[in-house]
Amino acid sequence: MSEYVENYELERPSAAEIETLACDENVIKTITKLQAFQSQLHASKFITECHQSLHPIKPKVSRIRCLALGSPVGSKNALYQLAFLAELASFLGINEVSVYDPVFTKTDIYLLENHLKYSVTKGGFGKVQDLETLYFMPHAPLELTQVLLDSEKPLYFLGNDILAHTDRYTKAKLHDKYETISLLVHLSEDKPKEKSADDFTPVSRRKKKKNVFVEPEINYDYTNSYLGKLQMTRYKESFKKDSDWGNSFSDLALHVIEPRLESNRKDDVDADKKDEETKKSTPEL
Ligand SMILES: C[S@@+](CC[C@H](N)C(=O)[O-])C[C@H]1O[C@@H](n2cnc3c(N)ncnc32)[C@H](O)[C@@H]1O
Repeated sequence: MSEYVENYELERPSAAEIETLACDENVIKTITKLQAFQSQLHASKFITECHQSLHPIKPKVSRIRCLALGSPVGSKNALYQLAFLAELASFLGINEVSVYDPVFTKTDIYLLENHLKYSVTKGGFGKVQDLETLYFMPHAPLELTQVLLDSEKPLYFLGNDILAHTDRYTKAKLHDKYETISLLVHLSEDKPKEKSADDFTPVSRRKKKKNVFVEPEINYDYTNSYLGKLQMTRYKESFKKDSDWGNSFSDLALHVIEPRLESNRKDDVDADKKDEETKKSTPEL
């Protein structure tokens, strides 16, 4: 079953509850652990790799949006991921961090908002295309990634390696279920094949082999898409058998999307219009 949740309103702690949480022994223990995890990550080879990969985009990002964190108070993996988020914000010199997961409890919200000064908000930063936000989505469901790509059109996201996380689907099934993700995956293939008016299918005379699965031809249509190029960085040190953070960062990869040029998109629309006009003006036989 999918873990994706749509439209869930979180319950926030009241002012009185915030006062109580500030002196709660378990909360204090969680904060101490968070600091220890952050120091541990700070000294790790993994974080050095991350810093290297993020260096080129450092001047371009001014906000971080974290989705699918899980409950940092209730889960060690989520607490490690939160420590990573704090480390990320510190490396990038970013103060504006927004976080959301429908599983957040009042104590999670206290930790995130009152202790770390992040904002816990269901909506993002309210941009049509968020050019300056780095998204961090540790182990996010594919549905969520698809919704994000469609609604906020991110250029930078740290999340599950988009290739590894979709390889259980055939190309056709992926295209059918998660079209935008399939367009993104297709960008990383050796020879991206965009359908254009001059495309033709070569006729092969070779006999078909029996019992061999042949992928149906897929129409990767980028006409209305912002996706231009994809550059991915994977991390060798993110998952080590003996590391304390276990699989908190398994399959993490940085995805940098180069948007399609507006002029290309316009050309596509113009070409479509021209096609339509030609069809209309050509008498049917
Ligand atoms: C596989 S869990 C990952 C949890 C944690 N990051 C980890 O690695 O253990 C996926 C998370 O996505 C969250 N999620 C589902 N729908 C979401 C949404 N619309 N926005 C943000 N997070 C969402 C779930 O509540 C869940 O915590």
